[in-house]
Amino acid sequence: MNKLLWPHLEECSRQSNEQSANDRGSISQAQSDAIEGHVLNILQPSGEDSILDVGCGTGLITLQIAKLAGKVAAVDVVPGQCERTRLRCSTMNNVEVILADAAQLPFPAARFNKVLFYDANIYFSRSELWTILREFHRVLSPGGVVLVGDLCHPWCRYRQLRFYNQAGFGRAVYGAFAKFLKMILRGGEKGWYWPTDFKAMCRSAGFQMKLVPQTEELPFHLWRYDVLLTKMP
Ligand SMILES: C[S@@+](CC[C@H](N)C(=O)[O-])C[C@H]1O[C@@H](n2cnc3c(N)ncnc32)[C@H](O)[C@@H]1O
Repeated sequence: MNKLLWPHLEECSRQSNEQSANDRGSISQAQSDAIEGHVLNILQPSGEDSILDVGCGTGLITLQIAKLAGKVAAVDVVPGQCERTRLRCSTMNNVEVILADAAQLPFPAARFNKVLFYDANIYFSRSELWTILREFHRVLSPGGVVLVGDLCHPWCRYRQLRFYNQAGFGRAVYGAFAKFLKMILRGGEKGWYWPTDFKAMCRSAGFQMKLVPQTEELPFHLWRYDVLLTKMP
């Protein structure tokens, strides 16, 4: 992982102790619940499932999955986040929490049938994300699926700034396309992808991609989207 991110990640794990009851900063409890409902709806956890939650954070989604799934492994690169997930899931006997980097998962091949990667892609450049997708491909059984959540859509961001926030044309263009420009100039702005572009990347990592729009209860649904990947043989 990119070592420059380390102070930021540690700060996030410290902050979450003082943040709102749902550990997600400024969003409401209803929006936080909606995120969890949305993920459960797509992943449909069941007793036969062995699910890997990568970048589990404080374990809000991990706990909800664990209530329905057979087994859950939760991974985060920050010790404080692992500790909080352990604590939150302490009453569940089907959860193991492991301190590890998404790019080097400490699991054998084909160990899981579902992977969750929610609201974590923003930390990785395009090439790092590709390495992580290959790791997901390795630890998934044939036909297994990955839910990648909360990708940012440059055009939808522009539309949201321009029409919903009534930002001036210049500001809206700047807000959205400064990101896109960086994408071109620096070879990748973290977390920002056109769906067709992300689809090509997933295909080269061995997945088929289906776009999943976010439901309107979700806090940033106007400019974020999720994707469901299926492992190709
Ligand atoms: C914004 S939180 C999302 C938490 C959770 N998935 C959710 O949606 O509630 C992103 C998490 O990804 C973790 N993370 C960042 N880089 C990582 C890496 N290289 N490997 C594993 N986890 C990482 C961070 O520590 C943080 O806890």
